[in-house]
Amino acid sequence: MKNIDSATHTRGESIYLDDIPILNGTLFGCAYPSAVAHGVITKLDLAAALQMDGVIKIFTCSDITGENQIGGIIPDEPLLADGHVHFCGMPVAFVVATTPEIARAATKKILVSIDPLPVITDPREAQRKGELIVPPRVFKMGDTDSAWAACEYIFEGSADTNGQEHLYIETQGAYAVPQENNAVRVYSSTQAPTAVQRAVCKVLGVPMHQVEVDVTRLGGGFGGKEDQANTWAALCALAAFVLKKPVKYSLDRIEDMAMTGKRHPYSSDFKIGLDKNLKIQAYEVTMYQNAGAAADLSPAVLERSLFHSTNSYFIPNTKVTAYSCRTHLPPNTAFRGFGGPQGMFVIEAAIAAAAESLGVAAAVIQKNNLIQTGDEFPYGQKAVSEAVACWEKVTQIHNLDAIKKETDDFNAGNTIYKKGLALMPVCFGISFTKTPMNQARALVHVYSDGSISISTGAVEMGQGVNTKILQVAAHVFSVDPAKIRLQTTNTGRIANTSPSAASATADLNGKAALMACTEILKRLKAVAAEELKQDAGIIEIKNEELFAAGKATGWTWQKLVMTAFLKRVSLSEHAHYATPVIHFDLTKEKGHPFAYHVYGTAIVIAKVDCLRGIYEMESVKVVHDFGASMNTAVDKGQIEGGIVQGIGWMTMEELVYDASGVLRSNALSTYKVPDIYSVPKEIDIHFLDTDKDNLAILRSKAVGEPPLMYGIGAYFALRDAVRKFNPAAVIPFSAPMTPEKVLTALYHTKNKETAAAASPNEKSVYG
Ligand code: MOS
Repeated sequence: MKNIDSATHTRGESIYLDDIPILNGTLFGCAYPSAVAHGVITKLDLAAALQMDGVIKIFTCSDITGENQIGGIIPDEPLLADGHVHFCGMPVAFVVATTPEIARAATKKILVSIDPLPVITDPREAQRKGELIVPPRVFKMGDTDSAWAACEYIFEGSADTNGQEHLYIETQGAYAVPQENNAVRVYSSTQAPTAVQRAVCKVLGVPMHQVEVDVTRLGGGFGGKEDQANTWAALCALAAFVLKKPVKYSLDRIEDMAMTGKRHPYSSDFKIGLDKNLKIQAYEVTMYQNAGAAADLSPAVLERSLFHSTNSYFIPNTKVTAYSCRTHLPPNTAFRGFGGPQGMFVIEAAIAAAAESLGVAAAVIQKNNLIQTGDEFPYGQKAVSEAVACWEKVTQIHNLDAIKKETDDFNAGNTIYKKGLALMPVCFGISFTKTPMNQARALVHVYSDGSISISTGAVEMGQGVNTKILQVAAHVFSVDPAKIRLQTTNTGRIANTSPSAASATADLNGKAALMACTEILKRLKAVAAEELKQDAGIIEIKNEELFAAGKATGWTWQKLVMTAFLKRVSLSEHAHYATPVIHFDLTKEKGHPFAYHVYGTAIVIAKVDCLRGIYEMESVKVVHDFGASMNTAVDKGQIEGGIVQGIGWMTMEELVYDASGVLRSNALSTYKVPDIYSVPKEIDIHFLDTDKDNLAILRSKAVGEPPLMYGIGAYFALRDAVRKFNPAAVIPFSAPMTPEKVLTALYHTKNKETAAAASPNEKSVYG
C-alpha cells in the first residue's frame, strides 16, 4: 500500500505547522539568543526594541507565570536565561510583535552585556573537571581483568564521532491559541505531544487538562523534535496565556541551527583482546559523551550507547563505562539511533584496528564473532539472533568473493582511483530503554455510516506510521482503506503519550489500535450472530461482506454497523497496550530491556579519487531483518533514507564549534549534507523474510533507526580505499571522513615515495 500522504505531499496540500490558517489577531514571536556561550548577564536593555512600532511585549524570565524550567529528565534547563547563559543560542528574551518581520528586527535592537566565564567544548575536559550530567554508568559481563591474560592480541586506541544537525525539512515551531478559562491549545511540530504539554504546564503554572497539544504531521523529526520542540511551544504558550492572543513562532533555518542541540559528539578509548582464533575475548571501552549545557535526553542517549557498545557481536568479557559530560554547547539531544551509532562506531573501530595490525580483513573478525541465538548481551538479555543469517544471505546473494576480486582487480589496474570495501553488521534493540515509556493508546470510532476514525499517540513525521496503523485497522475490519481516517495526534483524545521515537511508534500505537479494532469487531460479530441466529465464532467479514461459516449472508459492513448502532451497541473503543516481557534493573544494569532486536548486514563499496581526496559511495547492498514487512514500500523508504543519513554523518556532515562555543557551521553553505549526487549509485535492499514470532506489529519489525547504522560502513570503506593507496597511512578513527581528512590520510607519510609506491597488489583478504 502507498503511503497515505503521498498524494497531498505531491500536490503540496499536506498541512504542516506553517500551513495552519492563522486566526485574526495572531501575534508573532522571535527568540533573542545569547551570543556568548557562558557568562553572567550584567545588563539587559530592551528599551530600543520596545519602542519599535508593532512590538507588543518582550518576555524575559521574570514574566514566566509558572516555573522557568523545561528540563525533562533533569530539571536543569531554564526556558529563558535567568542571570546566566550556558550556551551560545540560549534564549534570553522572546519578542512578540504584530508581524514576524518586526519581531525579528526587534531582537536585533536588544542590548545585552555578558561577563564571559570559561567555556568548555570538549567532553574529556568536562569529565576531568567533574562536570557530569549524571554519575557514570558501567555495564559489565564476565571479567575483563582476567581475560586479557588469555588474549593472544591486544589493541588499544581512541575513536571519535562528531555530532550531526537534524536538518528536518520543516524547522521547529509552535502556534498557541488561548481558549476560555485560561486554557491554551498548542499546535506544535513535535514528536512528543505530551512532553510539550508537560513543559507548557510547568512554565504556565497550570494543570495538564488546561493545555491541549495538537500535531498534524512533521516535516521530519529524526529525534530533533523529541525534546527540543518544548522551547518554542512554551514560549508561544506563555505569550498567548499572558496576552490572550494567538502567538506563533516558526524558526528560520539559521535560528534553528544555532539554537537547537544536535546528535551528541562522542570521544572514546577502547581496548580489545583476541585469541589466536580471532575470537574477541575481551573489550573495554570508556565513552565521553558531549551532552552540552543541560541534560535534555543525554542520560537516555548514554544508556543506548552502553546497550549497543558491542553491536552485533558476542564478547564474553566486557566492561563499558560511559560519562555524560556537561559542556557549553547547546544541549545535545536524540538523533536517529539515539547513542547506538556512537557506541557501535567504537567497536567497529576497535575491530578495524585489530584487523589492520594483524593484516587480516575486518570482515574475518566481524564474521567470526557474530552473536548467536542464546548468547548473552552485556546487559543480560539473551539474543534471538539473525546476525549470521543476514551476513550469510548478503554475502551469498552478492557473491562477496566476486566483489572482492572485482575490487582488487580495479585497484590493481588503477593508480589514481582506489576502491574500498567494508561490511557493516547492525543489531539494534527495539523498545524505549526506560521501561515505563513502552505503552500506548488508541481511540477508534466507527461512525454509523461505516467510516472509521483512529487517534493514537503516534506522530506522523514522514516515516509512514499512519499508513501502517491504517493498514492494521483495514486488516482487522476487512474494509476498504478509504473508509479509514487517521486523525491528528491530540492530547485531548490520547493522553500520556510516549514520544514517537525509539523506532517503536508503529509497534506500540499499532498494537493499541489493533486491540481497539479487535474489541469493536467482537461486538459487531455478536450483533451479527444475534441477528442471523448464528454462532459468533463462525461470523467473518471479508471485504465488507458478512459470511457465516464461509457462506455469504447478504449483509454488508454498512448494514452491520447501522444495526449495531440502532441496537445501542458501542462503536467506539479506547485501548491501552503495554509491551510485555521487558524489564531492566538499574541497580544491577541487567535485564531484558528490548521486545526484540533488529539485525542486518550491509556491504559498502567506496571509490576514492586519490588525487583530490573526493569520493563516491558506489553501492550499499543490504540484507535487512524486517520480520514479515507489512509495507515494503514504506520500509524500503526508511532504509534508503537511513543509509544516506548515516553516510552523511560518517563522511561529510562536519559540525564546527569554535573554542568560544560558537557554531561556525551554522548554515547549509558551511554544513554539507548529502544531496542527490552523494547518494550511493546503488542501494540494494533484500529482505530477510522470517515468519518467526516476535512482538512487532503484525510481525513487521521496527525499521526507523537501525538502517542509519549501515552508514558506518561508509567510513570503513573509505578507510580501506585510502589504505589501498597508502598502506602506511596512520589514520585516526575520527568521523566524519571528510574529503579533507581523506586527502590528509592519502598523503600521510614521512616519506613521499611511500605514497607514490603504494602497492597496487596489496592483498585484500575480505571474505
Ligand atoms: Mo528518536 S532518536 O528515538 O527521537
